[in-house]
Amino acid sequence: MCGIVGYLGTKEAYPILINGLKRLEYRGYDSAGLAIHNGNSIVHYKKKGKVSKLEQEAEGQPKDGNLGIAHTRWATHGEPNDVNSHPHASQSGRFFMIHNGIIENYDAIKEALIDRGFSFQSDTDTEVLVNLIEDIFMEGALSLEKAVQAALNQVSGAYAIAIIDNEEPDMMVVARLGSPLVVGLDNGNFYVASDATPFVEYTKKAVYLEDGEMAVLRRNQTISVFNIESNTTIEPYIHQLTLDIEQIEKGGYEHFMLKEIYEQSRSIYDSLRGRLLPDEGKVIMRGVSEYKERFLKADRIIVVACGTSWHAGLVAEYIFEELARIPVEVEYASEFRYRNPIISEKDVVIAISQSGETADTLAAIKMAKQKGATIFGVCNIVGSSIARETHAGAFTHAGPEIGVASTKAFTSQVAVLALMAIKIGYERGSLAKTEYIQYLHELNRIPDMVEEMLSSNDDNLLGIAKTYASASNFLYLGRGVNFPVALEGALKLKEISYIHAEGYPAAEMKHGPIALIDENMPVVIIAQKNANYEKVVSNAQEVKARKGKIIAIVSPEDTEMRKIADHAIEVPETFELLSPLLTTIPLQMLSYYIAVIRGCDVDQPRNLAKSVTVE
Ligand code: M6R
Repeated sequence: MCGIVGYLGTKEAYPILINGLKRLEYRGYDSAGLAIHNGNSIVHYKKKGKVSKLEQEAEGQPKDGNLGIAHTRWATHGEPNDVNSHPHASQSGRFFMIHNGIIENYDAIKEALIDRGFSFQSDTDTEVLVNLIEDIFMEGALSLEKAVQAALNQVSGAYAIAIIDNEEPDMMVVARLGSPLVVGLDNGNFYVASDATPFVEYTKKAVYLEDGEMAVLRRNQTISVFNIESNTTIEPYIHQLTLDIEQIEKGGYEHFMLKEIYEQSRSIYDSLRGRLLPDEGKVIMRGVSEYKERFLKADRIIVVACGTSWHAGLVAEYIFEELARIPVEVEYASEFRYRNPIISEKDVVIAISQSGETADTLAAIKMAKQKGATIFGVCNIVGSSIARETHAGAFTHAGPEIGVASTKAFTSQVAVLALMAIKIGYERGSLAKTEYIQYLHELNRIPDMVEEMLSSNDDNLLGIAKTYASASNFLYLGRGVNFPVALEGALKLKEISYIHAEGYPAAEMKHGPIALIDENMPVVIIAQKNANYEKVVSNAQEVKARKGKIIAIVSPEDTEMRKIADHAIEVPETFELLSPLLTTIPLQMLSYYIAVIRGCDVDQPRNLAKSVTVE
């Protein structure tokens, strides 16, 4: 969490920093701040609240200069207020630093610094680190970079930092361990950021720092990278970015979330493009093929993920077990990593993550890798930490997802995982050729079905949203592969509308949650015509008998469920195992409309951040 931006070059830093912060605001929006070197000294502004508040604060104030750093915060140490906002200055006011991550041993360092005469303004670990750097520098370190290096060798935890020096208007030092940091290069201009979105319109050349690396940026010189621990020089690998500016703008939609919901026909198509060749009866997935033997001989698949990605893992469990007949366990990464789980070399671990930066998922795969498992990544962000930590993987190619609530990333994850299961199932011999071909053709139809759905259900969903926008609770029920969809529907509603919502397997309702049902309880039931249909209809009857309000996701030709339901939302029929790719979408829309009606901040819901890089 937290977004960092930096600039060193020939342009005015302020607009680059502010625009960069706005692009990274999805990473946290508790407070924002910046520091700019005007050639003589550093000016800085910081403010509780969003970047727009910082802009108001800086309006009319001096902010010229072409070296600067800026930060948007998701609070870890210390409440969100002006003082705890970044950048933090060292005690003498010489150094200014921004930081994303957590310094775990900051307390002990702080005490030692207090003993040495330092005092602190904020509650943050960042202020401790910048003062540790100053202390080492004052003790006679040869240069700022040496002081930074020595300080980083004393801290434990995670960081992406950028630091500037009042006495050095032509230099910035950056470093990373566990939190992402990328440097854009453009003929002596340097752009620093947590991801490439802040500078994509200026340059397509980028260096992703690896864990344990730092870089010194000097005006009009090349980047110099070295290892923090060993001090060895590293030849940086320059990536060519494929990201476009249009992909990270709202494109006429009121919110990123809505845009991303509507992009799903395209994003699912992109996830399958070049991989799914139904007419040739082929699935081309290089990562799977390279590790084919591991998949074919796997004793089990362990999925590790968090949040929405964990729900995609649950969907994958149904698909893999049915089609590939490999036992699957789906684990919350945060639990798995601390449980000393039994892992063998015959296990394949699939890490699912949109951002590729989720700290718990990253730690879980590092542990599983040490124990000898094969690690396969299903990530959206190319170059992300999880993508780089895995042995192999398949990118989801959903394009940038800016809304904090994950939408298109989920359906792309499910599409990629379904394709893997179909391929592996066929190669293991558990999926017959005819069925295999049928699945390929059916999966290929999904993007068009999504397109059709998105162009038809709008008014109906808006009407339902208006009816229930003031409800205090919601229940979501589904069976089989649509049980995870119920969980995902509930998560979407609670995170953006702040309405309490629970997802349950429909049959579990009578073991407790049924006690909650009365005439004020909207119950969303995924009830498409499939193997579970009759059972789901019975569960809906139980809700009806207790006067609950039923919002049913139904097949177009449904008659039975419509008779019971207060509202019906039609979703085209597909193979049951692929149905989450369709049934999820109206639940995303319903949450979106309810959140808008309630006046919630859809793209940046309270207390959340897009990329959870703390444990
Ligand atoms: O980037 P990741 O997929 O690893 O993120 C995992 C969760 O933090 C994420 O899915 C979160 O639950 C979303 N806000 C849900 O919409």
